[in-house]
Amino acid sequence: MEKYVIRGGNKLEGTVRIGGSKNSILPILAAVLLNKSSDEIILTNVPRIRDVVKMVDILRSLGARITWSGKDMAIQTDNLTGYAVDEKLMREMRSTVFLMGALLGRFGQVCISHPGGCAIGQRPIELHLKGLMALGAQLKEQHGYIYASCSRLTGADIHLDYPSVGATENIIMASVYARGTTTINNAAKEPEIVDLQNILNKMGAKIRGAGTDQIRIKGVTQLHGAEFGVIPDRIVAGTMMMAAAATGGDIVLENVIPGHLEAVTSKLREASVQIREENDRLRIHAPPRLKAVEFVRTLPYPGFPTDLQAPMTAALSRAKGTSMIVENVFDSRFKHVGELTRMGAQIVVTTDNRTAIVHGVEKLTGAVIKAPDLRAGAALVIAGLAAEGETIVEGLQHIDRGYENLEGDLARLGADIRRVKV
Ligand code: EPZ
Repeated sequence: MEKYVIRGGNKLEGTVRIGGSKNSILPILAAVLLNKSSDEIILTNVPRIRDVVKMVDILRSLGARITWSGKDMAIQTDNLTGYAVDEKLMREMRSTVFLMGALLGRFGQVCISHPGGCAIGQRPIELHLKGLMALGAQLKEQHGYIYASCSRLTGADIHLDYPSVGATENIIMASVYARGTTTINNAAKEPEIVDLQNILNKMGAKIRGAGTDQIRIKGVTQLHGAEFGVIPDRIVAGTMMMAAAATGGDIVLENVIPGHLEAVTSKLREASVQIREENDRLRIHAPPRLKAVEFVRTLPYPGFPTDLQAPMTAALSRAKGTSMIVENVFDSRFKHVGELTRMGAQIVVTTDNRTAIVHGVEKLTGAVIKAPDLRAGAALVIAGLAAEGETIVEGLQHIDRGYENLEGDLARLGADIRRVKV
């Protein structure tokens, strides 16, 4: 086990480079399974995070040949040996549900263990399953497994009740080899979906419209190799912006796409943070104490990202005034609030677990706290950076899922943070 030892109070200053996007590389690693040719897929700017390690293990268990050195990865998937995903490997990462679309498209059948819920809510997958059935898949759910089959999927018009990111990705991948054209209406518009479209089109697919709420996929009969660079991780970038905001810092982020962070930039400016956009860089200069913002409402892209709700709550816990944080995307994503209140934050969560009322306090005090999930863990680190005294953050296995080297990046910016073995 490991933990962070943080001594708060340092203003973050300096420059840090943002790595590749977790939520882009994960569906892309599923999509490469569609490539039946012996051509290699070469991926660059691949983040070295735990979720990618797990996804590589899953692909190798299915017969993929993968070499991964530094941030580059070469993948061959002409000799896949199976379409059933190892249950132990799946249990640890619920987002593997989008393997269904890729394996169903490749083999005409797939077996996965039901991904179940996780720390941020029940996380149902009915939109995924309805989409695959609309394409002709027969589904059977028993003993905690989902088995889907269809000799050849047929394009369909699909309307998503909710713009689910994973369901949109699953349906895109299942549609690549389907007969005819598939239209996804009310599709999710996240930048990671545009990345998925771009790599699949480089491999020979015919997809249009990603980034809008209508995506069209014309079925093809084969794909080929491609080389592709993953987009920068907008959530890691946003996390660093919040860390600077919480510590009165003055930092520069390199290798970002400012357009992917509009909602975050606008909200931080409201909190009186100065932010300057320069091509693939962002300059964040924060005042000693933030101004509270009346509302932060999480919404599907391009709204304020739910993955930055916890880091924003931590940054606003020391603001001057009261902020209302409304979590509209997940049904239980305030696990960080309990730990923040132990540091002196004054936050009340409404009984419907959808709104946190944050009364900003002058100071937070260090404490021993535990990360309950990935983004709540990042929020607790931010609180530790802004608190007086020493904070111990346990539960780093959650943080390592989505951050390549959080302590290294923060230390480079002047934070007093160390990772120690317990
Ligand atoms: C993706 O999860 C991301 N994960 C999440 O990031 C992110 O928070 C989320 O999109 C929203 O942006 C990956 O890309 C690997 P959804 P996903 O389907 O696809 C409900 C992180 O921290 N829903 O858009 O699971 C669902 O319960 C992670 O990096 C249904 O009801 O998100 C949730 O309340 C966390 N039925 C809401 O929609 C369904 O069939 C959004 O889910 C599917 C989803």
